Amino acid sequence: MSRFYISTPIYYVNDAPHLGHAYCTIAADALSRFHRAAGDDTRFLTGTDEHGIKVEQAASERGMTPIQLADDVVERFRSTWAHLDIANDDFIRTTEARHKEFVSELWRRMDARGDIYKGKYEGWYCVKCEAYYPEGELLEGQLCPTHKSPATWLSEPTYFFKLSKYAGPLLEHFEKNPGFVQPENYRNEVIAFLKSGVRDLSVSRTTFRWGIPVPGDEEHVIYVWIDALTNYMSALGPIDGELHRRFWPGIHLIGKDILKFHAVYWPSMLLSAGLPLPELVFATGWWTVRGEKISKSMPATRVDPNQLADDIGVDALRYYLLREVPLGLDGDFAYENLIGRYNAELAHDLGNLVSRALTVAGKFTGGVVPPIHADLLGTGRHAELAREASAVVREAADQLRAFAPSRALETIWRLVREANRYVNDTQPWALARDPARRADLEHSVRTVLEAIVCTARMLRPVMPNTAREMTRLVGGSEELAASWPAAERFGQELVEGAAVGESKILFPRIDEDRQAALLDRWIPADARAAAADPAATAVAPAKDAKGGQAKGGKRDQAKGGKARDKDKAGEAAPGDAAPGDAATGAPDKPPRSKPAPPTGPVTFDEFGRMDLRVAQVVEAAAIPGATRLLRLLLDVGEPEPRQVVAGIAEAYRPDQLVGRKVIFLANLAPATIRGVTSQGMILAAGAERVIGLSAVDGDVPVGTKIR
Ligand code: MSP
Repeated sequence: MSRFYISTPIYYVNDAPHLGHAYCTIAADALSRFHRAAGDDTRFLTGTDEHGIKVEQAASERGMTPIQLADDVVERFRSTWAHLDIANDDFIRTTEARHKEFVSELWRRMDARGDIYKGKYEGWYCVKCEAYYPEGELLEGQLCPTHKSPATWLSEPTYFFKLSKYAGPLLEHFEKNPGFVQPENYRNEVIAFLKSGVRDLSVSRTTFRWGIPVPGDEEHVIYVWIDALTNYMSALGPIDGELHRRFWPGIHLIGKDILKFHAVYWPSMLLSAGLPLPELVFATGWWTVRGEKISKSMPATRVDPNQLADDIGVDALRYYLLREVPLGLDGDFAYENLIGRYNAELAHDLGNLVSRALTVAGKFTGGVVPPIHADLLGTGRHAELAREASAVVREAADQLRAFAPSRALETIWRLVREANRYVNDTQPWALARDPARRADLEHSVRTVLEAIVCTARMLRPVMPNTAREMTRLVGGSEELAASWPAAERFGQELVEGAAVGESKILFPRIDEDRQAALLDRWIPADARAAAADPAATAVAPAKDAKGGQAKGGKRDQAKGGKARDKDKAGEAAPGDAAPGDAATGAPDKPPRSKPAPPTGPVTFDEFGRMDLRVAQVVEAAAIPGATRLLRLLLDVGEPEPRQVVAGIAEAYRPDQLVGRKVIFLANLAPATIRGVTSQGMILAAGAERVIGLSAVDGDVPVGTKIR
């Protein structure tokens, strides 16, 4: 039996949970549920980060003490996680005694090693990051590069941790453990940082009290990141205890913005304390909402996961978040995409499969699981479906083990679609008319029910309730629902004669009226007002004809009433890839003015910011209703393929593209075009219309850098 200990970041209690927090927690939940179902000794930890100046300030703004605020907000996290069906084994708060004791113990170990010394720190501090910034890293006006808000000049006596001492040993660790930080691009970032010269870290504060006192010097409180990172161990109890032996080292799933803390500070602290380093630090990408960073001051970006879950269902939200964007890549959240996937994949593909299967079982096999007919097992259509199911079970498991839930869901959908085709091909309703074909009928119904239970068991980590319900409806037990299927046992899991439920619609289709009502509810009135404000349109840059980036001005963030009306009328966009509304591509009006593109020579540094790579097309498909666009899946040398929308449909047919190698711009901000997320751009020749695709000479491996 393998061991799997996964954690999320612990969330600051200065604000309520939002979509970005929900994403990381849902991903960790799904991965841990998979490992549990596959029989691994599994533990899943989440919690809250409650100390530090940021929380102290937020509390005082609300006229509360820090612990009052923490007690309040922690309940919002707990209830949100319960609502989203998060099955964590433990929840750690950094204000708990078990945590505080452990942090002091770790400090003492680092101190005993001679790695803590007293000095004075002067520098620019961003409270939002809870971190100092060297002058050179600040933006003009001493603004924090992450938050764009003013940094504060702090000057205080402080204890330092000898971080510089561990850069070398850590680089060695990276060399010996190539998979330590994933995905690979983040690993390279950390290595570059370590090589750039690491300075010692200020690890105590005297300007406020809300923290854990430094052992032996109560004037100082321990720096909040030293405190917070320790949660992954403090939650396992005493260092020589059973949980440590059983679960450490763990896997940290984190957002890419806090990579340095997890991949440099934390491992260095552990090296100093003589403790084993984490097994893996896996960084997820960043969700934007209609191209904008989620922020309190931007109404259109405030996505409340609780409300979404109430309106569209917890499982549908979990499915969308994990299916839409491969873990590790940035993604753009668009409500229309959520509804699009819901209707196409959940209501249509999955929902139809279940309701059809239950209907035929109810009508033709007495509402019970029919027998298997051994003589039919290895034959024709039945054998094909069984083969595909076994392959899907194996591949999806491998993909989940490799932190690729989006890909796993895509794989599972192969079985969903194949099972739907199987019903069409075997036509149980026709077989039922001919008593001589009773065995064929029973075998067909049984095979579809088996495909459903197999699908349900694979979906359980992502959609726990749906999976439980699907299993129950086809007569399977709770025990069966809770375990990952064995590939070689496909078709033999249900019990003959078990009662099958009545036909049921699992995911009612969201029609246009309901879609309009949901969008009205989800997009705040102030954001809609901003979208309707003609002045706001002036800031939207135009999008290129290749279906590239539509990085939005305000008008991209929310759909005004007008745009939605156009949606309802199915109005076509003037050119598929026009800027503006993500789902229709139809702008209300052309932007009044467009900033002139910068001219003149590009510096080498500017060019160097382009992450150009060799990519290979693995899948190409038309986008319904878009005459100039194709949806491509590209292998770019990452664990999961990238999806891009390319305006090349007039020059290439999908079947001409699969296998071709092209030049790909990997760090273009994601955008939603015609309701499809585009995660980069392929290069092609042609100004208005594409004439020819870029290509690379020779047999160059995918992912190779272009410079
Ligand atoms: N308290 C620290 C983490 C300490 S871990 C020892 C912290 N908290 S946070 O609440 O600000 O953010 C927690 C996590 O949420 C981070 O991993 C961050 O990347 C993630 N997200 C916050 N907004 C996000 C998006 N818009 N998209 C994806 N994840 C983002 O940092």
